[in-house]
Amino acid sequence: MHRLRWSQNPNYTEHNSKASFLAGYAYAGLSGPDAPLLCAVPRGGLVLLGPDVEYPSHHHQPKEVYLVLTPGAQWCLDEGDWFDVAAGDLIFHDSWQMHAMRTREHPLLAFAGWIEAGDRRAIGWSAKADPQTTR
Ligand SMILES: [Fe+2]
Repeated sequence: MHRLRWSQNPNYTEHNSKASFLAGYAYAGLSGPDAPLLCAVPRGGLVLLGPDVEYPSHHHQPKEVYLVLTPGAQWCLDEGDWFDVAAGDLIFHDSWQMHAMRTREHPLLAFAGWIEAGDRRAIGWSAKADPQTTR
């Protein structure tokens, strides 16, 4: 654990993201082109959301798998309703599928892996959750 390097996507800034998200989100890469296990694919790592934080709806070209490690979070896919997830749940995001996560009283720790090559800078926010209009 002491070797994990927690950071944020450099494209998530105060100009396009809610302050509560920037204050409550972190990512520690495990594998990938910029992670301790150097490889092109998969780009995998741990995602941490603090309590009462929403990772806004977003999308990207690489297919993605999440393994939920803690209880109490919710997920939203496409334009659907929020649903509860449990520790041990696997969630698949297809290419360009909109997805969002949120926490309530408990933080979320999850493993996230892109199973195809891709650039983190290419993550796009949805129009629905455009931080410019929801701040
Ligand atoms: Fe994603």
